[in-house]
Order: sequence, then C-alpha cells, then structure tokens
Amino acid sequence: MNILFIGDVVGSPGREMLSNYLPKLKEKYRPQLTIVNGENAASGKGITEKIYKQLLQAGAQVVTLGNHTWDRKEIFDFIDDADYLVRPANYPENNPGKGIVYVTVNDEEAAVINLQGRTFLEANDNPFTVGKRLIEEALERTNKIIIDFHAEATSEKLAFGWYVDGLASAVIGTHTHVQTADERVLPKGTGYITDVGMTGAYNGIIGVQKEAVINRFLTNLPTRFEVEKNGPNQLNGCFIKLNPITGKTEKIERIIINDERPFFDYNNN
Ligand SMILES: [Fe+2]
Ligand SMILES: [Fe+2]
Repeated sequence: MNILFIGDVVGSPGREMLSNYLPKLKEKYRPQLTIVNGENAASGKGITEKIYKQLLQAGAQVVTLGNHTWDRKEIFDFIDDADYLVRPANYPENNPGKGIVYVTVNDEEAAVINLQGRTFLEANDNPFTVGKRLIEEALERTNKIIIDFHAEATSEKLAFGWYVDGLASAVIGTHTHVQTADERVLPKGTGYITDVGMTGAYNGIIGVQKEAVINRFLTNLPTRFEVEKNGPNQLNGCFIKLNPITGKTEKIERIIINDERPFFDYNNN
C-alpha cells in the first residue's frame, strides 16, 4: 500500500500548493491513500466545513488535525458528520469528533489515528497510553495503521515511535512546520519521521508573515499573526510504502518542494 502524507496546510497558499502539486505527486507515487494535515487550513487556524471538503476534493482521503482543531467555531457544527476528519484521540472523552478513522483502500481497511503531544501543549490524556490502546483496537481490523503524532518536542515524537515500533505501520510527526531529515524504518518495521513539515508560504515563519513573528520575539507583546500570502510557496510531506501482507513500512521518503528544490518527476522526465 502506497501512502502520501502532506504536512500542515497553512491558509490559502497551502491549499493552492496542495491543488497544484497533489495531482503530480499522485502520478509519481501512485498512492492508494492520501492523508493531509489540515489544522491550519483556514487562514492558519483551524478548519471550516468548506475547506475540509476542498481538501478532499484536492485529493485527500483523510484530513488530520492538531492543537488548532477548535479554533473555528463552526467545527462544532460539522465535525461529528465529517467521516474522514480525525482530531487528536487523547482529548477529553466528551469532546466532539473522533481520534481514529478507518478508510477502505482497494477492499482493504487502513486506520488513521491522530494524537497530540503534551510537551508545551495543553494537558490532555497521555498520548502513549491512548495511542497504544487505539492501535490494539485497530489491529483487530487491519495491520495498516498510520499515526499523525502532532507535537512540539522531537523527543516526545521519537519516544512514541520507538514505543509502538512493530505495532503501527508508521508514525508521522506534525506541528512544528519544519521538516526533519530523520526519516527511517525502525527495527520492527514502523516507518518514522519526527516532522514532515508544512505546506504554504516559503518565505514566512511557519506559514505566517515573518515581521509579526520577529516582533513577538523582540517585544514579548501579543502580536496578531497573518498568513503570508506573497512570495513563493512550499509543500512538504512524505511517501510511505507498506508491505501489503505485514503492514510494515518498506520505504519512507521525504517530499520537499520549494524554489530551491523544484518538483521533479523521475517517471516522466
Ligand atoms: Fe500546524
Ligand atoms: Fe499544531
């Protein structure tokens, strides 16, 4: 099973990048499953129903979220009816939405789980214990289990990767918006990357206008961040190839498209 995972889509530049490049990436990698993190898809904060549908139309089968899940009030009106929208599973039990989604890919199921780290983020349930419980639940149905672990600390994501090595097919880190170069297959077959990076403005700071961010660091005063809509854009993600029988990762490859590293399709060039 071939899987494409695209990192945090930030605002309209991110959505535009996704619609421009997803068809090309699909042609190159032939994924049966495409997962897109959409927690920043609406003006950098949260997601709306219209944008969720746009992401599906652009080619995502599952949209994952993160700490910006509740930023848009309208999320409460549609999250329970959005079958392929998954928010961190370790949120308080009474929260709307779900933390695991099953998708059927060529008559076969795959599970997508979203978790949120606790280092420098809200105090939620333990993502390690909740995550492991959900993986065990999913294993009753499928051995193709992809986890979007949304967290700030590299150590928390790496620790989780090792914790579920051999149980989950892949642990894909999101949230920092900066891609790490540590993609690998762990010894028992779990594909792993600490952070896949983001999709949106290339000359901003994690997708927003850099001046406001620099000013925040200079003054410590509250500053309003706006999505950077000028200049070039980038797309970051990864490609994962799972063994069809075992569900283990056979190959993980980073995807990085920007002005310095333009898209190149080896198949068609
Ligand atoms: Fe994000
Ligand atoms: Fe985030």
